[in-house]
Amino acid sequence: MSGLHVGIIMDGNGRWAKSRGKPRWRGHLAGVDSVRDIVRSAPNLDVTTLTLYAFSSDNWKRPPTEVGRLFWLLREYCRRERAELLQNGVKVTAIGRRDRIPRSALGTLEELEDATRHGTTLHLRLAIDYSSRWMIAQAAAELARAVARGTLAPEEIYPDLMDPLIHRGVPHLDLLIRTAGEQRLSDFMLWEAAYAELYYTNTLWPEFRARNLVAALSEFGRRKRSFGGLLKIEPSVKVS
Ligand code: FPP
Repeated sequence: MSGLHVGIIMDGNGRWAKSRGKPRWRGHLAGVDSVRDIVRSAPNLDVTTLTLYAFSSDNWKRPPTEVGRLFWLLREYCRRERAELLQNGVKVTAIGRRDRIPRSALGTLEELEDATRHGTTLHLRLAIDYSSRWMIAQAAAELARAVARGTLAPEEIYPDLMDPLIHRGVPHLDLLIRTAGEQRLSDFMLWEAAYAELYYTNTLWPEFRARNLVAALSEFGRRKRSFGGLLKIEPSVKVS
């Protein structure tokens, strides 16, 4: 898998529902259609890793009924999409904490992870009970344990040492999309976004489809990425 890694903060489900006079969960339900469409179209657009922010660790602050609906939707997604995901060679993994996910949702999710583990077309990462700061703290704790064991000196701790503990073999993030007009990261992939291109759109997540991903990717294609260095500019006049 050597294509692009795209991360998406799927925002605007509640606003979509409200504007139609529907309860908030109907926005989440409609959001699943967008997930399906983007997962189907990603491989054709050279996206080989897709990380979706499905439930942030701060989302526990929402009313229990909404939280319950979200995990129900997640479970249904894992069950209903399983055959198609397998057929399309999608490998699904979850990132984030697992100890607080309701047991039935976790069981279905882990079954899906196991069933799709050989997928090579697209790596779909579902960020669930996810907090980027928590992930960074986990990596820091891993290094602290090595220091305590005496196998690592604090002076040896540099970003390059921390990097693999956060990326865990997943390619660096190329493009981070947030829907529904908000322009913040909300604790999503803070470390990974160090050199990612950020793309914001007013489109609400339930209305986000393959054509919107195409628009984001073509904007990405126009960005100049120097990763802090200098862009190679071909001299227009040859010096002999
Ligand atoms: C943010 O919209 C969205 C979420 C907190 C949940 C995203 C979940 C889904 C799209 C469905 C389930 C996902 C999968 C992968 C099956 P919001 O509710 O904060 O919207 P608002 O800002 O308009 O209120």
